[in-house]
Amino acid sequence: MTYIAVLPCDGAGKEVVPEAIKVLRAAGADFEFEEFDVNADQFMRTGEPIPARVWSRLEQADSILFGAVGDPRVDDASYLAGVLLRLRFELDLYVNLRPARLYDDRLSPLRREDRRKVDLLVVRENTEGLYVGMGGRFKKGTEQEVAIQEDLNTHLGVTRIIEYAFRVARREVVMVDKSNAMAFAGALWQERWKAVAAKHPHIKTRHLYVDAAAMQLVRDPSQFDTIVTGNLFGDILSDLTAELVGGMGIAPSGNINPQTGRGLFEPVHGTAPDIAGKGIVNPIGAILSASMMVRHLGHADMAKAIEAAVESAIQAGECTRDVGGNLSTGEVGDAIAKRLRD
Ligand code: NAI
Ligand code: MG
Repeated sequence: MTYIAVLPCDGAGKEVVPEAIKVLRAAGADFEFEEFDVNADQFMRTGEPIPARVWSRLEQADSILFGAVGDPRVDDASYLAGVLLRLRFELDLYVNLRPARLYDDRLSPLRREDRRKVDLLVVRENTEGLYVGMGGRFKKGTEQEVAIQEDLNTHLGVTRIIEYAFRVARREVVMVDKSNAMAFAGALWQERWKAVAAKHPHIKTRHLYVDAAAMQLVRDPSQFDTIVTGNLFGDILSDLTAELVGGMGIAPSGNINPQTGRGLFEPVHGTAPDIAGKGIVNPIGAILSASMMVRHLGHADMAKAIEAAVESAIQAGECTRDVGGNLSTGEVGDAIAKRLRD
């Protein structure tokens, strides 16, 4: 049986993951779910972000369903690195997929109707770049301090993420970098981009600097199909694309390794400390992440059914307040589950 390791983690994560499981069950997913105690309480008790015994189970999982990590009581950087970055790096989940699709016109912040048709995919490099944690602080805490954060880019890493973008693109791949200002890493991206693009003459290609890409995404997001970019730019642009279709509450993501088949699926949002614990966090980001997970596991029909149920629930206003409804987290999960059963 398909074995899914479940890591709800902290805050809003703990509220949205059960709704995703509720919806998966309603969609007929016959999986074994095992939940693990990886969270700030556990970390403060043991000092270990992920205990060794849990890690070995995570390595065996067919997929991981993840909520969000972060807690005001713990040092965010080391805890985040020990959980989410460790999973991404050590399981080599080098593709971060962040789709943005507008399910209802009223969720778009754009005034011009003809530019609202957003259905795009950000393919973010997930294991390199500025997030590898290389660098250091020299003369720390003095006025002479020097802080260095290295931007790591490898031939293999850049090549494989661009290749993946061509695999999933429907009509166009846009490569985004800042090669005019970051000459060394930028040149590697440009070289690998041209080499890989040459192997896919049937797919349109375009290059944009990241500042221009941000501008174009707000001006007319309907022009985009697939965007491929590095770790940092992908993180930033995908928050922007999330906001174009209704915000943090509904944005899903998948972290995958297409070779090994491993995957970790999580809403884009964090633990939302400002609204967590009140029953008002939107579970749709987690639910759509679960739908990406079942698609990755080979159940495309189930994924389509979940997305259709989400779409009709949003259009009927059966949602939380951040997307214009007045239901609670659990009621949204129930409403979507019911649409799947009916
Ligand atoms: P956040 O995503 O938690 O919140 C940003 C804003 O979006 C807040 O106003 C929040 O209320 C809203 N929001 C988030 N999720 C929502 C949902 N499901 N429904 C409705 N509104 C929602 O980001 P923030 O505030 O920067 O970080 C909070 C904590 O989460 C930090 O500890 C941070 O490190 C962590 N974090 C973890 C991530 C992960 O596990 N992948 C990603 C981002 C942040
Ligand atoms: Mg982010």
